[in-house]
Amino acid sequence: MSKFMDWIDARFPATKMWEDHLSKYYAPKNFNFLYFFGSLALLVLVNQIVTGVWLTMSFTPSAEEAFASVEYIMRDVEYGWILRYLHSTGASAFFIVVYLHMFRGLLYGSYQKPRELVWLFGMLIYLALMAEAFMGYLLPWGQMSYWGAQVIISLFGAIPVIGGDLTQWIRGDYLISGITLNRFFALHVVALPIVILGLVVLHILALHEVGSNNPDGVDIKKRKDENGIPLDGIPFHPYYTVKDIVGVVVFLFVFCAVVFFFPEMGGYFLEKPNFEQANAFKTPEHIAPVWYFTPFYAILRAVPDKLMGVIAMGAAIAVLFVLPWLDRSPVRSMRYKGWISKLFLLVFCIAFVILGVLGVLAPTPGRTLLSQVCTVLYFAYFLLMPFYTRLEKTKPVPERVTG
Ligand code: HEM
Repeated sequence: MSKFMDWIDARFPATKMWEDHLSKYYAPKNFNFLYFFGSLALLVLVNQIVTGVWLTMSFTPSAEEAFASVEYIMRDVEYGWILRYLHSTGASAFFIVVYLHMFRGLLYGSYQKPRELVWLFGMLIYLALMAEAFMGYLLPWGQMSYWGAQVIISLFGAIPVIGGDLTQWIRGDYLISGITLNRFFALHVVALPIVILGLVVLHILALHEVGSNNPDGVDIKKRKDENGIPLDGIPFHPYYTVKDIVGVVVFLFVFCAVVFFFPEMGGYFLEKPNFEQANAFKTPEHIAPVWYFTPFYAILRAVPDKLMGVIAMGAAIAVLFVLPWLDRSPVRSMRYKGWISKLFLLVFCIAFVILGVLGVLAPTPGRTLLSQVCTVLYFAYFLLMPFYTRLEKTKPVPERVTG
């Protein structure tokens, strides 16, 4: 075996890569459960790719046949139903896992120097993931696929001068048609998965270049033993590979429970109108995107003017990109930040969840007002950050990680 590895290593850096990224990658010893979500995101990514490939084998990307081919997968293809439910539940699981993963970043200041690029690659993954989910949703060619895409694509029409041509260019037709379905299929199964995979590699390479942050936000590289190994670091393998398996098992219990018992999740993971074939002449009573887009959809609707709404929605995502430069705190982790930062993060999270709920519901004057308040709170978290993080009193950060 060792001779075989020597032969490989003389031609390909297999052992070096194993050591650099696993057995000699020293991660802080105080990771908590919030650090499960990176590896879980990888797991869901693999699930999406594998089930996606198998679904593609029986799916027909044409306006005439797409809906029926999904029914065929569900009823006639061997284990087709499980492939589809793994994929559709995986889409929602992806966003749950990624939102918690991002929340961990906000909580422990993981986006701060020197991890700005880790965050930026993460944000690009998030954007690509949104595009991937949006395009995937058109493929079953149900009523919500069709009308959801109609609403989102028509938003580009609000852009002055080029809006009309741009929407036509995106659709490839005067209305959403089989041509749109074809191109979304190509992007969903080939182009975007490649982009996402590439970005995930860059994300992890950037992280391993600077090292992982931790719940204390302490820089473990500052204190090393005589061999240059961080005193508070432990090798990723076997310690965290084994720990991550615990997260995977707990995740799979919940995930499988949904796949086997509640695959529609009350209409949140698979929306009810999508069990009816797309019909360009019949608008569903109430069009709402899937739950993971609803916070941004609520921000869009909170602004009365269409163009300004589109700008607000874009800004809500764009502002996350500049987060590393908005936080001026001398400390990273929320454990040592002052009460103003804690309050702002709490209010931000509550506002985000309320926006998510409002985005699902039909608008009423009261709900619109609430979504306007929450939109202001959402932006306040970011735009006031340079001030409150500089002004507030922080607690002293310990020399070594705690517990
Ligand atoms: C497909 C999606 C993603 C995958 C597979 C992924 C994977 C990972 C993995 C394996 C880690 C190391 C383990 C961990 O710290 O949890 C990590 C760390 C990190 N990720 Fe992601 N990630 C994804 C999306 C994102 C997004 C959308 C963001 C934020 C915009 C993000 C920001 C970060 C940050 C800041 C860290 C470093 C955390 C720290 O050291 O405290 N990631 N990611």
